Amino acid sequence: MKPRGMLMAEHRLIERMLAIIEKEIIQIEKGRRINSTTIDSIVDFMKTFADLNHHGKEEDILFSILAKKEMTDEDSQMMQELIEEHKFCRKATEDIVQAKEDYLKGKDTIGIVILTLNSLVRFYPKHIQKEDEIFFPNSEIYLTDEELASMIKEFKNFDCTMFQNKYKQIIESLEQANGGI
Ligand SMILES: [Fe+2]
Ligand SMILES: [Fe+2]
Repeated sequence: MKPRGMLMAEHRLIERMLAIIEKEIIQIEKGRRINSTTIDSIVDFMKTFADLNHHGKEEDILFSILAKKEMTDEDSQMMQELIEEHKFCRKATEDIVQAKEDYLKGKDTIGIVILTLNSLVRFYPKHIQKEDEIFFPNSEIYLTDEELASMIKEFKNFDCTMFQNKYKQIIESLEQANGGI
């Protein structure tokens, strides 16, 4: 398997979340209320899986190796665009968290939640398509077989470390909530 196979499998999971978000938008519009448990699950997925884990592997491993290569202007420019698009996704997720917190305090932020969820649903498929069809195949031209093989190992290590860190953080916050153990 090539490194892009791992990233593309993650894209398929993100697409399933986007389909869930689309349905959730309809529910919010119908009921004029926010289900904070569903929003929390969406936010956890977008923050932890899509951003920290998936964008993390792209930026910290793939893009960082490519930054040392002599890429064409088009490919370099596309890599910058992809980084900017990750920032957009991060900001949209933060906006959803803020709007949900304000909603729980009694403010009418339903419109903001709908607008922001919609922006993710409209924007993200284009980002995925750009990576799957153009950037990932192009990026392999600059990488040797050894680099591709070691990238797979780095991706797996990244996943493993993230998984450990996520639960370590949960333990630490529970310990703190219990007055320190
Ligand atoms: Fe990306
Ligand atoms: Fe991606």
